[in-house]
Amino acid sequence: MGKMPIPNGFLKKEELKTQEKIYELTCMFCTNCGLVQLRNIVSPKLMFKNYIYIPSTAKTMMNNFNSIVFNAHQIINLDAKRLVVDIGSNDGSLLKLFKNYGVKVVGIDPAENLAKVARMQGIETLPKLFNTKIANEVIKKYGQADVITATNVIAHIDDLHETFRGIEIVLKKDGVFITEFPYLLDLIHKNQFDTIYHEHLSYFSLKPWKRLLDMYGYKIIEVKRISMHGGSIRLIHTKVNNKQKESRAVQYLTKIEEDYGLYREGCYEKFTKRIYQLKTTTQEKLNDLKKQRKRIVGYGAAAKGNVLTNFFSIGNETLDYIVDSTPYKQGLFTPGKHIPIYPERRLIDDVPDYILILAWNFSDEIIKKQHMFKKRGGKFIIPLPDIKVV
Ligand code: TMP
Repeated sequence: MGKMPIPNGFLKKEELKTQEKIYELTCMFCTNCGLVQLRNIVSPKLMFKNYIYIPSTAKTMMNNFNSIVFNAHQIINLDAKRLVVDIGSNDGSLLKLFKNYGVKVVGIDPAENLAKVARMQGIETLPKLFNTKIANEVIKKYGQADVITATNVIAHIDDLHETFRGIEIVLKKDGVFITEFPYLLDLIHKNQFDTIYHEHLSYFSLKPWKRLLDMYGYKIIEVKRISMHGGSIRLIHTKVNNKQKESRAVQYLTKIEEDYGLYREGCYEKFTKRIYQLKTTTQEKLNDLKKQRKRIVGYGAAAKGNVLTNFFSIGNETLDYIVDSTPYKQGLFTPGKHIPIYPERRLIDDVPDYILILAWNFSDEIIKKQHMFKKRGGKFIIPLPDIKVV
C-alpha cells in the first residue's frame, strides 16, 4: 500500500509544518501456514506509548464487552475467588464489567496514558507490554488467573510465542483464555483493506491460529463470528487435556475458509484488484459530488479512516472536516491528509450535504445518532464493501 504515516499519529496544528515520518505498509501471505502479516514493523513504543484509541466511547463496543463477560460467566462461575487478567486492557472498560461480578482484576497495557485512566477508575493496571517477565510479576503479586482475556490485541503483537509463553505462566491449568480479533475472512470478503495498517501485524484466520494453539497445547471450546470491527471472531480456549470438548464449529469454519480460497494466492490477487477498482470508483463518485458543489464531511477519525483517506487520496479539498466523539482527537489533524477534527456537535449548526462514514464499523450507531442530519436532507456515504449512498 506504499508508505504511510502511522494511522493514529494525529497532529497538533503546530506540527503540520514539520515533515511527517512515513513507513512502508506491505501485507504478505504465507503460502506455508496461511498467515497474512505485515512485512515491516514499526516500533510498538512509537505506536502505543501514548495511545489514543479508547473503546468505551462506542455503545456497540460496550455491548460486545458485556457479552464477553456473560460468556465467561457461563463457563467459569465468576465470584470473589476468581482472578481475571486482561492483556491489552486499554482504559479498563472490559475489566470494569468483570469487576461488577466481584472478581479480582488486573490489566496490562503499554499505553501509559490509558493505564492511568484505568487506575483512576479503580482498575489495577500495569503499564507494560505483556511478556514472560510481566507474567512472572503478575503471578507473584496476584496469583494465577482463572480467565485471561485479550481483545483486539493479538493482531498488534509481534512475538506471539512470547505472549503464549506468558499465558502459560499466568493461566491456571483449568483456566480459560478468551480472545477476539478481526477475522481475515471478513476482511477479504468485505474489502476491508483499510483495516490493514502498521498497528495490525497479523490478520488471522482459523487455520494458522490453530497451528499456533497446537504448539502450546490449547484447544478451542467455543468459536463465534461476531460483528465487531466489520467482522471478528471470539474464541474461547482451554488446555487440551481439559474435560471440555473442542467446538465442532472449528472444523466447519476451517472448511469455509478453505472453500473460499483463503489459502490460495489467487484470493489475494483478486482482492488487490478489487481494492484498486474501489479506489477509482470512490474517487469518481466524490469528484462528481464536488463538481456539483456538494459539501462533504467525514465521520469518525478512525485509524482505518486515515488509511482510507491516504490510500484513496482524499484530503481537505474533498472533506471539509471530520467529526469524532473522542475528546483526545478533537482539535487535532489526521495523519497524512491533515484534515481537521471537530466534535460531533459541529453538525448541529453546520449541515453538509454528505457524511462519509469513515468509521464504517459503527455505521448503524452513527446513522441512528445523526437522525436530525438525515431529517434535514443529509445523506450518508458508506465506503465499504462497495461505495453506497444512503
Ligand atoms: P474504530 O473503528 O477504530 O473503533 O474508530 C471509531 C472512531 O469513530 C473513533 O475515533 C470514535 C469515532 N466515533 C464517533 O465519533 N462517533 C460515534 O458515534 C462512534 C460509534 C464512533
